[in-house]
Amino acid sequence: MLNRIYHLGYAVEDIEAASRFYEENFGVTPGEPEVVEEQGIVATMFKVGESTIELVQPTRSDSPVGKFLANRGEGFHHVAFEVDDLREALSELKRNGVELIDEEPRRGAGGVRMAFVHPKGAFGVLTELVELPDG
Ligand code: CO
Repeated sequence: MLNRIYHLGYAVEDIEAASRFYEENFGVTPGEPEVVEEQGIVATMFKVGESTIELVQPTRSDSPVGKFLANRGEGFHHVAFEVDDLREALSELKRNGVELIDEEPRRGAGGVRMAFVHPKGAFGVLTELVELPDG
């Protein structure tokens, strides 16, 4: 089902400060921050070789990432895996009784389709499945 790790998501209080930190100290080139209003986040990505890090800042304190920051503080938030067919992956997981946060695909940053698997059903790791545009 899983093609590759698409990104690792870090929850941060201040996306500009975090971007600057990685840019100045590690020489990465963060992209433009993108607001995903539906999820209450602003996100930016930077490439590390074949992999990507996603920095996520809540736009409101009652969003899931806002609550995560309040409870757990900054740090590792989720892993995203690329799949070929998100709808098919979600129905297979559902059939297997895996607890999902999103039973239907949602729009994610960068125009992808994405859905979250509940961390309770995934040994404590919030797991995102991503289907890229055009397959
Ligand atoms: Co993500």
